[in-house]
Amino acid sequence: MRTILVLNPKGGCGKSTLATNIAGYFAMQGKRVALADCDPQGSSRDWLKIRPDHLARIESAKVKDGKLEIENTTEILVLDSPASLHNQKLVSITRAAQTAIIPVLPSPIDMRAAERFLAELVGLRNKISRKVRITTVANRVREDTIVAAKLEHYLEKLKLPNGDKIPFMTMLRASQNYLHAAETGMTIFELAPSRTYYDREQWAPLLSWLNSSRSIP
Ligand SMILES: Nc1ncnc2c1ncn2[C@@H]1O[C@H](COP(=O)(O)OP(=O)(O)OP(=O)(O)O)[C@@H](O)[C@H]1O
Ligand SMILES: [Mg+2]
Repeated sequence: MRTILVLNPKGGCGKSTLATNIAGYFAMQGKRVALADCDPQGSSRDWLKIRPDHLARIESAKVKDGKLEIENTTEILVLDSPASLHNQKLVSITRAAQTAIIPVLPSPIDMRAAERFLAELVGLRNKISRKVRITTVANRVREDTIVAAKLEHYLEKLKLPNGDKIPFMTMLRASQNYLHAAETGMTIFELAPSRTYYDREQWAPLLSWLNSSRSIP
């Protein structure tokens, strides 16, 4: 089973948005997908509850006593993680994944928080046995703003404190399409193509990375 984790302890950076859209994308490709909401807030779980029946099915993986209950036919597991995830909880959730995606918002506070988080991740590395493939995604970006350019520059140069480069995958614009999809249990890939053309283009590098061996250790 392939496990994709979306994480960043900073609240509101787009974890649930990315997790639901990734789960939906793979379900649309005919994969057996489970989405696990490890966040007590339950944004992804709520999204699954309102997901229309006629759309590609995504299983809701239950978290019971810290353990995941998923059907053994699951091919892709997407983990949506909570804000303020640190220490042991961060270790156990990261251990479960082969691939981790870190969304970062274009704000100086979020960029500094991302830097601290990556330092923490490296500090915990010896406890995370598996070598997880990590990437960053700039999210909710208003293009042609100074802060967007700064975020892009920052993420392109980003290295782990041990010198390893972290690939920067793509920049997702701030768009009502994400709000609309979240409200209706859909993904942006299920909204009208004419309306989401630009968003789909922005997702392409991330999806192609997820479909390639580069995102698997
Ligand atoms: N690219 C985007 N454009 C517009 N709105 C967005 C975008 N990404 C996320 N949002 C909106 O921003 C809000 C926060 O996003 P989301 O819930 O995905 O963040 P989160 O990291 O899961 O938050 P939390 O840390 O609270 O779990 C939501 O209302 C979501 O619909
Ligand atoms: Mg969330």
